[in-house]
Amino acid sequence: MKITEALMAEHMMFHNLFDHVEKTAPRLKTAREIKLLAALMDSMLAAHSRTEDDLFIGPLEHCFEQIGHRETFHQEHEQIEECLKQAQSVKQSRQARQWLLAAVDCSRKHFDKEERIVFPMAERVLKSKTLTALAQTGMEQRKTPAG
Ligand SMILES: [Fe+2]
Ligand SMILES: [Fe+2]
Repeated sequence: MKITEALMAEHMMFHNLFDHVEKTAPRLKTAREIKLLAALMDSMLAAHSRTEDDLFIGPLEHCFEQIGHRETFHQEHEQIEECLKQAQSVKQSRQARQWLLAAVDCSRKHFDKEERIVFPMAERVLKSKTLTALAQTGMEQRKTPAG
């Protein structure tokens, strides 16, 4: 399997999670419930973003520069993470919900950009063999917890 295929498969799972969060969040009454959902999304996204940050930015750096996205790729991960941290730290349920839904919104836009621009670019620029090797590295990396 290529890394682009592996990441894309994860995207499909995240799209379901985002749908679920959008549907559920308005009905949740306590801040605690919303925070649990934010924490779940946070930890699931962390592994995904880490793989992209570690394995994609390097080999595709020159391409990102050309399309003017070198910083944004990583920045968007941080922005999503920040929304989820806020969702987990505010006191009122209304605010927690707003941050959680903002995280979903940011994530959807970011994922869309990856699916339309970044993954096809990786498929064009990198060799099949490289994409497969990167998927292998990504799997190995998942076995070790983030430092
Ligand atoms: Fe990403
Ligand atoms: Fe992604």
